[in-house]
Amino acid sequence: MNNTNNYLWWQKNIIYQIYPRSFQDSNGDGVGDLRGIRQRLDYLEWLGVEVIWISPIFQSPMADFGYDISDYRGIHPLFGSMDDFEELLSEVHQRGMKLLLDLVPNHTSDQHPWFLEAKSSRDNPKRDWYIWHDAREDGSPPNNWLSVFGGSGWEWDTTTQQYYYHAFLKEQPDLNWRNPDVQQAMLDVMRFWLDKGVDGFRVDVMWHMIKDQQFRDNPQNPDYDPREITFRQLVPTYSTDQPEVHDIVRMMRQLTDQYSERVIIGEIYLPVQRLVIYYGQDNQGAHLPFNFQLLTLPWDPERIAATIDEYEGVLPANSWPNWVLSNHDKIRIASRVGIEQAKVAAMLLLTLRGTPTLYYGDELGMRDVPIPQEEVHDPQGLNMPDLNASRDPARTPMQWDHSPYAGFSEVRPWLRVAHNYQRVNVLHQRDDPFSMLNYYRKLIQLRQKEPALHVGNYIPVHANHQIISYIRQSEGVRFFILLNLTHRPCYFKSEHEEIRGKVVLATEIEREGTYLTGSIELGGDEGIIVKLD
Ligand code: GLC
Repeated sequence: MNNTNNYLWWQKNIIYQIYPRSFQDSNGDGVGDLRGIRQRLDYLEWLGVEVIWISPIFQSPMADFGYDISDYRGIHPLFGSMDDFEELLSEVHQRGMKLLLDLVPNHTSDQHPWFLEAKSSRDNPKRDWYIWHDAREDGSPPNNWLSVFGGSGWEWDTTTQQYYYHAFLKEQPDLNWRNPDVQQAMLDVMRFWLDKGVDGFRVDVMWHMIKDQQFRDNPQNPDYDPREITFRQLVPTYSTDQPEVHDIVRMMRQLTDQYSERVIIGEIYLPVQRLVIYYGQDNQGAHLPFNFQLLTLPWDPERIAATIDEYEGVLPANSWPNWVLSNHDKIRIASRVGIEQAKVAAMLLLTLRGTPTLYYGDELGMRDVPIPQEEVHDPQGLNMPDLNASRDPARTPMQWDHSPYAGFSEVRPWLRVAHNYQRVNVLHQRDDPFSMLNYYRKLIQLRQKEPALHVGNYIPVHANHQIISYIRQSEGVRFFILLNLTHRPCYFKSEHEEIRGKVVLATEIEREGTYLTGSIELGGDEGIIVKLD
């Protein structure tokens, strides 16, 4: 039943997210680039990663580091040329790997020719490509919608005497996706890259793409914690996740379905019940609406176990799950749960049912790097200096070796390198059998080798205030996974006779090869994978 040939590449493989500014600099300007990524494909292959997603590489004034695009078809010279891109893509494909691009359809840069035209006059043909609104009588913005990056979501345009809406920076005006010309223009962009052969897109803030037509005020969030970003003061009921967004997602899907085996992944921060709607009716929406539960939930085994069950329960028939631990917008996993627990987190990510997405550097146990105030680049950090909201700490250069600047660049990088890079780096960890890197590699290889782990069923066993445990099973092969999500020892007593077998992989290497029956004791921050008899 679980014949792996029935599964597609984006179901069976692991996605590796590259933040291109910080992966590898090849031309000595301190910023990572496409040739740099190409130089490191051997590493990714060695690690066992087969799908790469690269955050935006397009023309951009870089107000939001590439998420403000001024030409969707052009490569930013910082990252290289179109030739560099094509060479990278072709080499990725030669190696049997896949390449996903980041599509940012919700907003453009304010320097995009579309917006320059739109704001030139009220009767410009492109005016309606963006979201304009008159001021209220007292001159204030039309409603209370907030920008994710702080302050109002509305910016006054003095020339044409109207506000425009921007969910993020004022330099990132939101497109009006109700306008069919906008829809066509963005589908053309997708076609452009699909024709080049890219294997799909990670679609930026998919849940933001359509807003309430009546522009109703968002309600107050009674649970707002002042330590959170100010955007959370309101519940974005009317500015995000509108029913009509699913028509747009379906349109994107229909286009990609004209090509063979391409994939659409949606960036969506919603509770699982709402998230799974993005699979679309009859799975005609996104192939993978990103599931960020492991990234947003408190590290509490009972809550996580309940959410896994809930997610498994609400997944539409024939849709495919996925899991994410870190990304370029959030705290790295090793900083969130601690370096020891990060191994348990990796085991969880790589043994759950569904496509896992890894964030570059997590495989080394890279932690968030403290960035002095005067070196902060991220607009979210700059706009809310007292909230420690900068995303720079999770975006620092990849740590390749112990040479100056960690082998990332020959010059001082755009963002400082972690001070521990001489110890925490690929070169060093490759030779150390106890390293995080070799641990990740073993996990990846086990997952890729065993159908039970990459496509098998998920059977919850037991969870309590310390433990999560489950079985993955395919064609009679069964693995039992037991994870201690706390720092204290824990004890697992099986009520099931069948929990008996050999440890094939463990956070503590010494456990591997041991045979377990009945009761199992785990130290703090330990996890084991047992191949059941
Ligand atoms: C997404 C991106 C984030 C960016 C934002 C605006 O959330 O992941 O990095 O700032 O969209 O495009």
